[in-house]
Amino acid sequence: MRAAKLLAASIRDLGLGATLEGLPLILISPLTMRRLKRRKLRESLQDGFDAAHGTDTAAVLVGRELGPGVTRSGHLVVHYETTSAAAIRAPLDGLAIDFSRFVFIDLGCGKGKPLMVAAAYPFRRLIGVDISPACIAVARRNIARYGPEKLDPARVELLTLDAEDFELPGDPLVIYLFNPFPGKVLEGVVANLERSLREQPREAVIVYVNPHALAAITRSELFERIPTIADRMPMAAVGMPPYEQAAVFVTRPEAAGKSASSKQR
Ligand SMILES: C[S@@+](CC[C@H](N)C(=O)[O-])C[C@H]1O[C@@H](n2cnc3c(N)ncnc32)[C@H](O)[C@@H]1O
Repeated sequence: MRAAKLLAASIRDLGLGATLEGLPLILISPLTMRRLKRRKLRESLQDGFDAAHGTDTAAVLVGRELGPGVTRSGHLVVHYETTSAAAIRAPLDGLAIDFSRFVFIDLGCGKGKPLMVAAAYPFRRLIGVDISPACIAVARRNIARYGPEKLDPARVELLTLDAEDFELPGDPLVIYLFNPFPGKVLEGVVANLERSLREQPREAVIVYVNPHALAAITRSELFERIPTIADRMPMAAVGMPPYEQAAVFVTRPEAAGKSASSKQR
C-alpha cells in the first residue's frame, strides 16, 4: 500500500520517465542505502556544528524514519539532510534588511539546523515547519541542547505540519527552503504566500538553497531574483558544493506595499 502510494506520488511529481529511471534507486539495497547515508553523514559532520553544540543534525533520515512517505495531497516527502552552517549563513549575510522586523521561517525545517544558525541574526521570531514528527522531535531536542543563551526558546516555534497547510504570519518574512519539496508542492506554497502578500502587502525574501524547482518561484509576478554574494563574487562560493548554493528572491516594491521609487536595496 505504502509502496503503491510512493510510486503514484513519484509519477505525479517526477513524471513516468524519471520514476522509471529512478526505480533502481527506489529499490536500492539496504547495504547501498547505508553506504550513501554514511557518506552524507561524514560530509555533514565536516563543519563541526554538531561536535561544537552537542546536537544531532547530520544524520540523514529517509522513508519510514521520517514518517509520512507522501503528503495529504499525494506528493512525495523529500528525505531529510542538511547543509553546512556556512551555506546557511552565506545568503543571510547578503541580505540588506533590518532583521529585527522579519520572521525567519524554515519550511521543511528537519532537525532545526537553519533555525539554530539563523538565531545569531536579530530576527524577531523563528518558525520551523516539518511534515515529519520524527524531525520535529529531534529539532526540539537539538534546540534544547543548543542552549537558551544562543536560542531563547520563547523566540522559536516548531510545528509538525504539511507546509501547504501552514498559515503565514502577518510580519515581513524570510522564508528558507533547502530543496524541501517537489515542484508541485512548492507551487502550492508560493500560491499561499502570494495570497497572503496580496491580502497584506509586506516585504518577503525567499532563500532557496539547491533550487531544483526554480520555476515555481520565477513565474511569480510578486518576486524578483537578486544576486547573492556568491553570484557577485564567485570566489565566495569556492569550496561550496553546488547543492549548497542558493537563489534569493525578494518581493517587488508593489508587492511589499512600497512605490517603485521608494525601493531600497
Ligand atoms: C532536505 S531536508 C531540509 C531540512 C532543513 N531545512 C535543513 O536545511 O537542515 C527537507 C525536509 O523537508 C521536509 N518536508 C518534505 N515535504 C514536506 C512538506 N510537504 N511539508 C513540510 N515539510 C516537508 C522533510 O521531512 C525534510 O525534513
